[in-house]
Amino acid sequence: MAPAIQITTRGGLSLQESNHSMTQSFQKVRALTGMKDVLPDSSAQWEALEATVREWLASYGYRNMRTPVLEHTRLFTRGIGEVTDIVEKEMYTFVDALNNEQLTMRPEFTAGMVRAAIEHNMLYDRPHRVYTMGPVFRHERPQRGRYRQFHQIDVEALGFAGPDVDAELIVMLARLWKLLGLKDIRLELNSLGQGDERAAHRAALIVYLEKHKDVLDEEAQRRLYTNPLRVLDTKNPAMQEMANNAPRLFDFLGSESLAHFDGVCERLHDAGIEYRLNPRLVRGLDYYNLTVFEWVTDRLGAQGTVCGGGRYDGLIELVGGKPAPAVGFAIGVERLLDLCSQSGDQAAPPECQIYMIHQGPEAQRLAAQLAEPLRDAGLNVIVHAGSAGFKSQFKRADASGATVAVIIGAEEIAAQAASVKWLRAQSGEDQPQQETIAFERLVTELKLKV
Ligand code: HAM
Repeated sequence: MAPAIQITTRGGLSLQESNHSMTQSFQKVRALTGMKDVLPDSSAQWEALEATVREWLASYGYRNMRTPVLEHTRLFTRGIGEVTDIVEKEMYTFVDALNNEQLTMRPEFTAGMVRAAIEHNMLYDRPHRVYTMGPVFRHERPQRGRYRQFHQIDVEALGFAGPDVDAELIVMLARLWKLLGLKDIRLELNSLGQGDERAAHRAALIVYLEKHKDVLDEEAQRRLYTNPLRVLDTKNPAMQEMANNAPRLFDFLGSESLAHFDGVCERLHDAGIEYRLNPRLVRGLDYYNLTVFEWVTDRLGAQGTVCGGGRYDGLIELVGGKPAPAVGFAIGVERLLDLCSQSGDQAAPPECQIYMIHQGPEAQRLAAQLAEPLRDAGLNVIVHAGSAGFKSQFKRADASGATVAVIIGAEEIAAQAASVKWLRAQSGEDQPQQETIAFERLVTELKLKV
């Protein structure tokens, strides 16, 4: 596997480069292709989602853990599989020149979560329900819903054999969609069976694919012997009929695998969750066995998979742990937020509740002093920074979305009372109100009224 990217970590510019750049005007630096900034107005949506997600996960007993962005490359090549798109062409891999190690920016969380669980003997005496959230990196061709840095909410049930926990994870997800008010999202389910069943199916599939070699595109030809199951995951229209008629892994499942699958389906039925059995659902990572699932929507164009996951009973042993079963999923946060923004009002929340306007140096210092006890009382306060005319300060106050402006000028100082102006009409009133409140009563009154 050739690294997609080669960099060194000495960092910064070389002496020659920095001398050169000082003599030239600085060229504007832009974000990297496929890597997005989240600006304050949309960040509010992210924070609201994260808060909902944390509560939702806590309600099922999931606990947070955090793993590093960088891991040894071999964790992913071994864990995710050599012949996957991710490992073959999407990883940000480089040699750390300081200690000559080959490192990779995590392209997903599962391998790192499992590495951490093994390293800290977490699975020694009991299973764990854990989750993490954050950025992951894949060098894909960017388009709507597909980025090079994107974010996942990753949930792993480590040490559970299922099928109860497989179903619990899916039921949990249905609850999250409900909490977020999402409707057009559906569940696709499949079973990938166990190693011996996959081996028998693989042999039959290779024979079948060899018979249809003439319709296989270049990528399929390449994967024929390395990862034939992924050949069926093709989007190439010319290969659809061939893929539809190929031997189905599902038909090679033995009684134990079928019983596991039935166990999941029964529980989904109990919870009233509809699903479609999709025998061609294989997922893009090699570690799965038995249950695999995806939640998909038609509302996001080509990148309609919002969440994917499944059981990976062999991974823990594969990356050096004592054998233990596990199951999990990851949600693509950008896709989920895109879907949420189609089904609800997305007004940016106000920057503060109270905006303090002042005139003159003495009033400015007093405003800063009066703001602190308001914050002690739990109110969010912005004190206008610098000096400006009343009109322009009012404009700022209005743009901040604050409920009230508290005004302090020479008159107010003389009267030891602030002018308080409501920036929006209260319910039942035509005009926003204005009143005077003594400095000493400011906290009590505003706490009651704002
Ligand atoms: P995955 O299917 O590779 O699974 O990714 C999970 C989700 O991440 C996808 O369903 C999608 O919503 C989002 N996603 C993937 N690639 C991109 C991209 N380039 N841009 C934006 N969003 C993207 C995994 O990563 C597994 N680790 C899931 C898992 C956890 N399985 C068991 N435990």
